Amino acid sequence: MHLFKKNSELQQYLKAKQEQGLSIGFVPTMGALHQGHLSLIHNAQEKADIIVCSIFVNPTQFDDKSDLAKYPRPVSKDMEKLEAIGCHVLFLPSAEEIYPPDLPEVHFDLAGLDKTMEGAHRTGHFEGVVQVVHRLLDIVQPDSLYMGQKDFQQFTIIKRMLKLMDSPIQLVRVPIMREEDGLAMSSRNVRLSETGRKKAGKINKILFQAQEDAKKMDLATVRANALTRLKEGEFDVDYFTIVDGDSLQEINRFEQSKTSVVCTTIRIDGIRLLDNIILKEA
Ligand code: PAF
Repeated sequence: MHLFKKNSELQQYLKAKQEQGLSIGFVPTMGALHQGHLSLIHNAQEKADIIVCSIFVNPTQFDDKSDLAKYPRPVSKDMEKLEAIGCHVLFLPSAEEIYPPDLPEVHFDLAGLDKTMEGAHRTGHFEGVVQVVHRLLDIVQPDSLYMGQKDFQQFTIIKRMLKLMDSPIQLVRVPIMREEDGLAMSSRNVRLSETGRKKAGKINKILFQAQEDAKKMDLATVRANALTRLKEGEFDVDYFTIVDGDSLQEINRFEQSKTSVVCTTIRIDGIRLLDNIILKEA
């Protein structure tokens, strides 16, 4: 695996590959890689010739500076994992490479996609995500980009950004990878206490139950039942909502949207755990 820390060196390497007619698949990450990230890379390997993974813990997407400080950074373990699955390139830039002082600011009209759910709880988070993904795409210039369904809102926002840029980059959504008890894989899971981890394994059961309920009940009842179960389980709920997969606005009837997704964020041990299930997709 090639390791690049400088934009110019990465770009020189990738230009040569593109001149040979090889396609570039890109997987942006913040490291602390788990099976979920590795499945993004597997997906990329199926569709592209050269796979680039970046690890950059982006400070501009953290509204909570202690969360940024606590974010795990096991870089040498990450490198071993990437080597083992045959990733071709790791891009490991410094903050100076990503954010040089003369970098022009980017602004996109996100049509309120950044204001609901996570956006309502993490001020400026998606502005930071858009800023870094835009910058990384500008450096890597990939043919395809792989992002996880677990961060459904992030995926939807990047989809809109690419549309507004009129970008030819193919955006691929990769399904959620789950632990044995169904907990959605996340770099944050390692910070859970033993009891917190057990409790976290129950979140997905409530989502899957909501999926079952949705086959026979209206969405208001589905939502109310799930909230009752979350209350009974003494979960600290940031939000539990059923949204349209494009507008991310809450819906009350399936007929209102082509894609409907149940999304939640639960706090355990002060850690925000995201999960979602796509109920219906056209
Ligand atoms: O999902 C993540 O890990 C990050 O938000 C991303 C897309 C790598 C941008 O920093």
